[in-house]
Amino acid sequence: MTESDRSTLFDQLFARTVQETLEEPGYGSWRSITAPDAVSLSFGFPYPESFPETALLESLGAVLEEEGSHALQYGGGEYVDSLREGVLEREAVHGIEATTDELLLTNGATHAIDGVAQTFLDHGDEVFVEAPTFMGTLSLFGNYGVEVTGFSLDDDGLDVSAVETALEERREREAPMPKLVYTIPNFQNPTGTTLSRERRERLLELAAEYEFIIVEDDAYGELRFDGDDVTPLSALDDEGWVVRMGTFSKTIAPGVRTGWLVGHEEIIEQISHISAGGTNTFTQSVLGRYFDAGHYEPVVEELLEAYEGRRDAMLESLAAHLPPGADWTEPEGGFFVWVTLPEGIDSGELLPEAAEEGVTYLPGSHFFADSGGERSLRLSFSHVTAAEMDRGVAALARATEAAMDE
Ligand SMILES: Cc1ncc(COP(=O)(O)O)c(C=O)c1O
Repeated sequence: MTESDRSTLFDQLFARTVQETLEEPGYGSWRSITAPDAVSLSFGFPYPESFPETALLESLGAVLEEEGSHALQYGGGEYVDSLREGVLEREAVHGIEATTDELLLTNGATHAIDGVAQTFLDHGDEVFVEAPTFMGTLSLFGNYGVEVTGFSLDDDGLDVSAVETALEERREREAPMPKLVYTIPNFQNPTGTTLSRERRERLLELAAEYEFIIVEDDAYGELRFDGDDVTPLSALDDEGWVVRMGTFSKTIAPGVRTGWLVGHEEIIEQISHISAGGTNTFTQSVLGRYFDAGHYEPVVEELLEAYEGRRDAMLESLAAHLPPGADWTEPEGGFFVWVTLPEGIDSGELLPEAAEEGVTYLPGSHFFADSGGERSLRLSFSHVTAAEMDRGVAALARATEAAMDE
């Protein structure tokens, strides 16, 4: 719906946070940035053939056969426990020793972040984020009417010393302190960068000193193609300052809408207590059976190989086509590359010409709470084939070169 055909009939009834965002484009409005013949490098979607349909069908059948009405009842059957165990085992692989009291299954990572926000945030509270960051989270924080401050990233992830300076400065002027610091430490969306071990340790020290919660969104942590795992913030934390979330959206399928939260048991209990409506226990049962049958790990192994190939193809295309002055990140995992265009090119202004040439992408400014990212853009290598990617990157290069000549 465009602004002009929006009725204003209910405006005065909407909640304050809704009223404040009425004139802003809603989350997902970027999906309308499409052109029928253009290659879409916008979507951070898994490629369709990656979905383990046969294994899911088999698991679904087994759950119904073995558990029947238990699996369909409120609370679900025993396969929900299998999923809890499966998640805890995967977390243990990354060094996280958690118990079932420290785990909450959710309807995806976004639902997990929402549970944290609902539990901790009041209107006007302060939240720190990476700039740029996942726009779904920016939009979610918008629902809570909080003040969001962004901190830049470099090749080692979030600039933790800038966070430290801001905290010191706020303490000195007795300004409000952040309640949450939201970070995507592995293969960040949108930049693909990974937060270094040293910075993780420092951030944790700051959390303990200034008493804020680190929200560790590890949506891509399972998808490392090269380099060594960096210990999760949660595994470094023995006091409880980290609340961590994961999701099966990238390793099984987004449609299963299943993820999890790991944190201090008091926090988990509060989040569980406050959340209405429950979670999708039937899907959790299917995934529990999927884990028990041993499907999870081999599927992830295949995904790693496939996404590594796609990442390599994207980097090769960028090196082959983009003009001098353009720069991009080289992620060790995940779905995204962050491209910075040559000086003087605005990625938002370039988009219509790029679409005409045959590619769409997400302009960098979408990932900032305030201004920023005008020269940058996010390209996803997760969804289209290597050949399509190459066509798309070549189109981006043509549009960029034309704009440089103007
Ligand atoms: C960093 C990050 N967190 C969370 C999500 C969403 O996860 P889910 O589909 O589990 O809600 C995404 C993906 O799109 C993401 O990039």
